[in-house]
Amino acid sequence: MQNIPAELVQYFEASHIALALAAATDDNPLMLVNEPFRRLTGYDDEDVIGRNCRLLQRDADNREAREKIRAFLDSGRHASVRTPIVNFRKDGKPFVNLLYMSKLKTLSGEVRFLFASQFDVSRSQPELLSAYDAELSRTLSRLSPTLAESGMVIEGSLMTIANSVATVAQAKLTLADLDGPGFP
Ligand SMILES: Cc1cc2nc3c(=O)[nH]c(=O)nc-3n(C[C@H](O)[C@H](O)[C@H](O)COP(=O)(O)O)c2cc1C
Repeated sequence: MQNIPAELVQYFEASHIALALAAATDDNPLMLVNEPFRRLTGYDDEDVIGRNCRLLQRDADNREAREKIRAFLDSGRHASVRTPIVNFRKDGKPFVNLLYMSKLKTLSGEVRFLFASQFDVSRSQPELLSAYDAELSRTLSRLSPTLAESGMVIEGSLMTIANSVATVAQAKLTLADLDGPGFP
């Protein structure tokens, strides 16, 4: 497995938004998560490092979201992906995670790592989603020079959420459905 450049580790530790880094090989085991990720999901490093992040989904269906993610992972056509996906905290509490993913590549185009950021859009307010979007956007642009030092580039730009009111409202509906029968 690839070593993570020290600047990238420092960057993750300093960030205020949830970030995760996975290997581009095998079943994309997680290699690095930061404190906002641990706070959001309730999982510690020893629970998640070395495992695929789908563990957060438990037995939720998430068919559409997973298809989108797999299309992103399996082909070079999509520079990034953004989708809401039902996840569960370690304590079993469900939330709708607005997941952003992109690829970290070497200058020769080889995918070295997968980068992701998570946000609980179901227990949020539209203003908080807009603030998160702005922070993620800043994170991506500031990450570029950090990565360049290690001979890498981050693919894709962020499609910001045009309608944060509708996105939050939809996520709250999804969560309300989960609280219905079948999800005690
Ligand atoms: C770096 C990284 C972070 C991810 N973060 C999450 C996450 O927070 N929640 C989630 O449900 N899936 C996350 N995923 C996606 C799943 O790991 C997996 O790729 C997805 O479920 C599609 O594959 P599957 O259908 O085989 O499960 C992440 C993937 C990667 C590579």
